[in-house]
Amino acid sequence: MRRSEAMAARDEMDDIQALVRSGLGSLGSARYLLLRIGDAARARAWLRGLAPTRASEVGGGKTVDRAIQIAFSRAGLVALGFADADLEGLAPEFLDGMAGDERRSHRLGDVGASAPEHWRWGRREAEPHILVILCARSALFKPWADGIEADALASGCRRTAAFDSCPGREDGSVAQEPFGFADGMSQPDIDWDGRLAVTGAVNRDYRAGIAPGEVLIGHNNEYGFVGDMPQGRLSARNGSYLVYRQLEQDVTGFWRWAAAEAGPERAVWLAEQIVGRCLNGTALPGLGGKDNDFLFKSDPEGRACPLGAHVRRANPRSGDDPLGRRGFVRDVIASLGLEGRAADDAVASARFHRLLRRGRPYGRMLSPAQAMAPGQPPVEAGLHFVCLNASLARQFEFVQGAWLTSATFGGLSGEGDPLTGQRLPFPDEGRTDLFRYHDEAGLPRIAQRLPAFVTVRGGAYFLLPGIAGLASITRG
Ligand code: HEM
Repeated sequence: MRRSEAMAARDEMDDIQALVRSGLGSLGSARYLLLRIGDAARARAWLRGLAPTRASEVGGGKTVDRAIQIAFSRAGLVALGFADADLEGLAPEFLDGMAGDERRSHRLGDVGASAPEHWRWGRREAEPHILVILCARSALFKPWADGIEADALASGCRRTAAFDSCPGREDGSVAQEPFGFADGMSQPDIDWDGRLAVTGAVNRDYRAGIAPGEVLIGHNNEYGFVGDMPQGRLSARNGSYLVYRQLEQDVTGFWRWAAAEAGPERAVWLAEQIVGRCLNGTALPGLGGKDNDFLFKSDPEGRACPLGAHVRRANPRSGDDPLGRRGFVRDVIASLGLEGRAADDAVASARFHRLLRRGRPYGRMLSPAQAMAPGQPPVEAGLHFVCLNASLARQFEFVQGAWLTSATFGGLSGEGDPLTGQRLPFPDEGRTDLFRYHDEAGLPRIAQRLPAFVTVRGGAYFLLPGIAGLASITRG
């Protein structure tokens, strides 16, 4: 790791793909096109003809009516002629692949029905080489996306899979995921202008702003350093690692379980405890803030928001390190266990484990009442979970493994993430199918034998290169 010369990321927006800056929510329709390369030269020529949308074209009041984003798996870079030596400096997790190693799958909770051997895509001959994300205003979408897909196939690429998201609202209103919750409420705020004082691990206070290097390769991260990147013919600067997982959601199963556990009138209340947010996206009452202006400091017992709720695991804010800013002496005292309780152990500040989420839902949307109605058959629905980060190990894999999947989190045991967990027992940690919460009278409760509500159907790690990086890949 090294420090980079000071340069505001804003000055490089022309070289950054748009998804880093914006979820492109005003473009209501999206297609995730997963391709395998048949002939490298023809694929390169086709890719050179695509103009990916840049960060400079979106955000800050600017908008486009169509956007193309292009990313590559390691297998894709190899198919385009890169040798192992060219890829040196890229993240080892990217080089191994999401399903590349059984231990990784266990750590990520990809077990049971979610194990890679059952995936519809993501490994062996179904491992994609290229991910093209096509987003457009819904009125323009289909003929345009079909045309680009046809060009890809005419250039010798084969289709591993292609998924359309369900059409979103184009009026800027909040998106919903298939369980019915407002999605995309909490996001880190990239410090494009380099205004944040980057203080590394000395100041562990939680804040929404993050250094550009938490998302962009080649920029200073929250520690004030730049991570590794290749130094040869492949340029990764201004790129980002893109995690893509197809997460199928059992919507009727989720709402029926909540209704059976809490009674139909309290089902929404219990579901909100599981997520850790109200259905409409606001913070749970009692956290002392709305939207994103809250910490878990005021709720150490998990009375307002269960300790194991999805959002509390996915981003414990100050909760995993309540001592916040401290000096060397207090650090030593804490690390010797002389201050705080086991539940307060400093894993690390949440600031070093942020994810920029860019996914979209797919399938048929049901309201909670429809999902609970007797006779409602199951529907196919889920999330094309996409997130961006500059360190797969410290960001996505840490959040997914240590916080969502682990059965011991924040002083809890025997439970995994109540929304996304697989519920299979771990060899060392035992059962994972409990969920502790406080009922409305403030009494502690333990829900037993939670079913799995989410199943992984496919996934892969990609490099979303910068614009110059893309040229270095397609040049040949
Ligand atoms: C089908 C699976 C999932 C569903 C239905 C789901 C749903 C939600 C909902 C409703 C929220 C609250 C609203 C918001 O802040 O956007 C949320 C927040 C969040 N989720 Fe998920 N999620 C899923 C999977 C995941 C996965 C796999 C990860 C990470 C590996 C993740 C990471 C996060 C993060 C970081 C937040 C924001 C927490 C915060 O900053 O307060 N989610 N999710």
